[in-house]
Amino acid sequence: MQVQENISLRPYNTFGIEAKARFFAAFNNLEELAELTTFNSGLPILILGGGSNILLTKDYDGLVLKNEIKGITELHEDGDYVYVKAGAGENWHQFVLHCIERGWGGVENLSLIPGNVGASPMQNIGAYGVEIDDVFWDLEAFHLREKSTFTKGDCEFGYRESVFKRKHKGQFVILNVTYQLRRKPRFNTSYGAIRQELEKMGVKNLSLRAVSDAVISIRKSKLPDPAVIGNAGSFFKNPTVPNGQFQSIKNGFPGVIGYENIDGSIKLAAGWLIEQCGWKGYRKGDAGCHSQQSLVLVNFGNAEGNEIFSLSEEIIDSVRKSSGYSWKEKLIFIEIAGQRFNYKY
Ligand code: FAD
Ligand code: EPU
Repeated sequence: MQVQENISLRPYNTFGIEAKARFFAAFNNLEELAELTTFNSGLPILILGGGSNILLTKDYDGLVLKNEIKGITELHEDGDYVYVKAGAGENWHQFVLHCIERGWGGVENLSLIPGNVGASPMQNIGAYGVEIDDVFWDLEAFHLREKSTFTKGDCEFGYRESVFKRKHKGQFVILNVTYQLRRKPRFNTSYGAIRQELEKMGVKNLSLRAVSDAVISIRKSKLPDPAVIGNAGSFFKNPTVPNGQFQSIKNGFPGVIGYENIDGSIKLAAGWLIEQCGWKGYRKGDAGCHSQQSLVLVNFGNAEGNEIFSLSEEIIDSVRKSSGYSWKEKLIFIEIAGQRFNYKY
């Protein structure tokens, strides 16, 4: 375990943004983490997983700690379920494949999401009708030399939300996560695109592998591969609006797409609105809006974090001007700024 100085973070963030960490180290277990937190006390600390949900806007004047805690363990079985604990540093998609191979159901719709296990509860990752909330059992986290356990209720999951982004922001290091998976899978193909893709693939009998393959195929057709073009997935959330407001947006944009929530409010497809405002495929310097999915901002090569951030503000402003909708529920990434790292709203 070695603390390095003045390290480029470019290889550690999927946007491929250049910024330096004053200090940088990796840890493989709780003991190493505990020792590292005593290094130069008072320095701000940033925990890094796969770097697929961050935007670096300047050098980080603190200690960046890369979580590399590994291991996947089947804890026990109980009726319909198997309880599986994974180290925070395990790659998420490899974990999904591990579950599929063993016939454990619940995470197959979340195939191919970049990043690591430890970040999965941070924003309650979700895709194709499933989110972590559906399979989460508990997690262990480290806070000021003490280990705590968080149950599902403690995590206060919401749409791309958890307690770790709000009241416990920057306070806990997630060490491992236990998922409650089904021994006999129940398939969730409620997301229309999955059904269409399964049909296209000619699948007659559903299996974990078939659902996973369908999700992978849809994702590959829409989302840019960070190894080819820098990005952090959706940069914008789909905002929820009261039904009345949805109707008034409809006056200006009759084709606007929205999905009704249980309470009657509407979740707007922000990607559609952004596209209508002409941003899809837009490029300014090396910052741009992806040509297949306008929720995703991209770095074509040497964009700076601030250029990506300015573009996001321009987009939000233009949607506000065109639709009359003042979009507050916006960015879902974090920005490292000076002493702080915040989720932006
Ligand atoms: P990082 O970017 O390393 O960290 C994100 C935040 O979590 C930071 O605040 C960091 O400090 C904190 N953090 C990370 N690990 C820990 C830990 N162990 N303990 C405490 N804090 C920690 N997300 C979705 O929900 N659904 C999608 O469909 C989706 N698609 C994507 C597609 C692409 C192409 C890309 C690039 C991203 C996509 N994302 C998606 C976003 C991203 O993959 C997820 O948010 C992922 O969980 C981030 O994991 P990470 O390990 O890379 O986190
Ligand atoms: N749409 C457009 N234009 C666009 C993008 C989308 O018209 O540029 C329309 C689509 O045609 C569709 C609707 O908007 O009618 C929804 O599109 P899609 O199914 O692609 O989903 P999304 O809302 O754009 C969300 C998540 C993704 C997740 C997918 C699948 C958010 C912020 N994003 O995207 O998550 O993979 O659904 O479940 O909720 C991420 O969080 O990083 C991410 C990629």
